[in-house]
Amino acid sequence: MSASAGPTTPPAFSPTGTYVPGEPWSSGVRRGPDGALTVAGVDVRELAVAQGTPAYVLDEADLRERARSYRRAFEAAFAEVGAGVDVYYAGKAFLSVAVARWVHAEGLRVDTATGGELAVALRAGVPGEHIGLHGNNKSDAEIARALEAGVGRIIVDSLVEVERVAAASRARGGAPAPVMIRVTTGVHAGGHEYISTAHEDQKFGLSLATGGSVASAPGAQVEDSPAMTALLAVLAHPELELLGIHSHIGSQILDPSGFEVAARKVLELRAALAERTGFLVPEVDLGGGYGIAYLPGEVALDPDRIAKDVAASVAASSADLGTPLPRFSIEPGRAIVGPAGLTLYTVGTVKPVRVGGPTGDGEAESTTVRTYVSIDGGMSDNIRPALYGADYHAELANRLSDAEPVLARVVGKHCESGDIVIHDVLLPGDVRAGDLLAVAATGAYGRSMASNYNHVPRPPVVAVTDGEARVLVRRETEDDLLALDLG
Ligand code: LLP
Repeated sequence: MSASAGPTTPPAFSPTGTYVPGEPWSSGVRRGPDGALTVAGVDVRELAVAQGTPAYVLDEADLRERARSYRRAFEAAFAEVGAGVDVYYAGKAFLSVAVARWVHAEGLRVDTATGGELAVALRAGVPGEHIGLHGNNKSDAEIARALEAGVGRIIVDSLVEVERVAAASRARGGAPAPVMIRVTTGVHAGGHEYISTAHEDQKFGLSLATGGSVASAPGAQVEDSPAMTALLAVLAHPELELLGIHSHIGSQILDPSGFEVAARKVLELRAALAERTGFLVPEVDLGGGYGIAYLPGEVALDPDRIAKDVAASVAASSADLGTPLPRFSIEPGRAIVGPAGLTLYTVGTVKPVRVGGPTGDGEAESTTVRTYVSIDGGMSDNIRPALYGADYHAELANRLSDAEPVLARVVGKHCESGDIVIHDVLLPGDVRAGDLLAVAATGAYGRSMASNYNHVPRPPVVAVTDGEARVLVRRETEDDLLALDLG
């Protein structure tokens, strides 16, 4: 989560009035000659006419470049220390058939968290062996489908699931199912508690804390951690192949030190298992969580820097432990798709509201005015501000204005006062009905967490590439919603 920084600074403009591009906007965002935003050469006013608003706009070249840079950065840094690495795109951030194809074409694999995400990856033609399946409560049907598709890995999240996957694999026959055990390292990283996933008191993974095991496995001892017990349980099943250990420590992480601490703990567990059983787990997955810029002035994690630091750190840990390096994998989602997306809205109403009231120091009342700018979407297309207190940045998109900026609050159209897209942002004082507003960096966890609250149909996802727009996911219609209502 980005720190709440109050009103964001007005955008930087060159003397010719051209927007100076940069984070948090995707690399294809510019100001055209008449001041309107363009994305990959497509004028947002034309997009709004052709596609309607709200609309998610995805800059394909930007997304692909981020996918490539993560893959190249990690491949280079890990090759330097003698380890291989695979980059899985975490589809939960946003998955469509086209996006799965793009990232796969850029050399990434696809991490799925449900049968639904798995279905999209398969529809895209991603080969099973390049897909991973996560989930803390996978159904038997999801497990069976993953095995049927020949997924490269099932990341097992509990002891019960070891048995479930083993039973499914036994029932199917054939090669043992490749599994990883997801562990919680106690490292708590990332913005909001709800998206920090490796501390102990939460539903994901199996703890590394010794003596925490409440179930047993052949060869396990009472003082073993749940993680060790699960690894031993997998080794005891001929229907399972113990592929690796998995750790994901949180999301929107801007301080990378947690990755190194967690990796060290995972490598220690791997060494301990090898000492116990002689089996050296071949792979280690370090999860996703790489933070991005949501506001002007924020600095995203640099893939080159972090890849080098993590590679150096795991090499040092492995040397200390006297174990050869495993093959690694990572699972970035937000860092690939987040900055590549923006949401385009139309302004409906603009309402100045006096805030503060009596000051209590003799003055009659405060004169602060907040300008409520209502747009045609809201918490149904971006729940993150309401759910995590996330901050976003917006700009007037259809024109430039030299009107004095006002302190604005961008709100949605839902029946809820917490339906706020941006708490505080400076917008030109002449912002008015019919204007277009672009909100930056909404590519991750926007459409994928969208709802139909108030029966608002979900917006389309429109890709823009080299001056052309293409609908990847069409706008939902009222007919789509009514089709589910059987009367
Ligand atoms: N791998 C695993 C096992 C995960 O649980 C996640 C995210 C990722 C990878 C990808 O993390 P990323 O690189 O995108 O940070 N809805 C929240 C984020 C939830 C993340 C859940 N797991 C948000 O909007 O901030």
